[in-house]
Amino acid sequence: MLMCFFCKKGGVGKTTATGEYACYLTTMGKRVLVISIDDQNSLFEMFGLSSKVFERDDNYLEHFVNGVCTTDDVLIPLRENLYGVKTLNTDMLSKKLTLERSFERNFISAIGQLQDGFDFVFFDLPPSSNRTTEVLLERTDLLMLIVELNKLGINGFYNTLQYFVDNDLPLERIRYILPNGYTKTKAVPGVALKELKKLISENVPHAKLLPLMPEKSIFLSLQQKGVTLFDEDVSLLTTYEKTQKKSVMDTMAGIFDTIEIEQ
Ligand SMILES: Nc1ncnc2c1ncn2[C@@H]1O[C@H](COP(=O)(O)OP(=O)(O)O)[C@@H](O)[C@H]1O
Ligand SMILES: [Mg+2]
Repeated sequence: MLMCFFCKKGGVGKTTATGEYACYLTTMGKRVLVISIDDQNSLFEMFGLSSKVFERDDNYLEHFVNGVCTTDDVLIPLRENLYGVKTLNTDMLSKKLTLERSFERNFISAIGQLQDGFDFVFFDLPPSSNRTTEVLLERTDLLMLIVELNKLGINGFYNTLQYFVDNDLPLERIRYILPNGYTKTKAVPGVALKELKKLISENVPHAKLLPLMPEKSIFLSLQQKGVTLFDEDVSLLTTYEKTQKKSVMDTMAGIFDTIEIEQ
């Protein structure tokens, strides 16, 4: 099953949601692969494994698509039953996909090969428009948009819907919408949520609005330590972080449980 996490705006929590959901699924006994289409490869940071991105320069997704490295080379272990794939240059990849018809077939077939042995393949997409993103959005089984709950986040959501229309991607493909950054103590997220609900009912009424992802400092503090919410080892955490982690983990599990995944 292929799943894309997308928004035409950066810094909204795409990588965070993708990585945490991937981790959560491994705790449910699934095998998950996360392919970073964002060539910043920030996915590896949240697992404390950014060194893996620079350790070798011959095992990027592009090398695998071109047949110059093997599955064993390209799959980077992140956790038990969880692997990552890094990408070198999304612009170059997209240029090749635009110019060479046959390359699109190679690309799709490479993704198919990587999919073997995994229950889920996630794509952590960049906010920029490119052909790679379009090819994947056309083929994904499940598509989730992440929306940051503030004025700019709502604009980003609107731009994302516009992007679908401009690129002839059916809006019906948008299955889930995850609102990120909710807090009761501020007015902004509540106002944004109201606006988001209105835009959903007007443009993508079939899409399911997921429970709210809370705004919590724990996301950043865990990412700086290279630890995820669902990691069992808490030896690196302060007492405050342990408490915060527990409550956020329960909320996140509630969000992820709402996603219906058929296989
Ligand atoms: N719910 C949240 N509360 C607090 N910080 C968050 C939350 N979600 C994401 N962040 C932080 O926001 C930053 C951007 O998140 P990231 O997942 O990298 O976004 P994107 O992949 O969309 O660019 C990161 O530093 C992350 O720790
Ligand atoms: Mg990202």
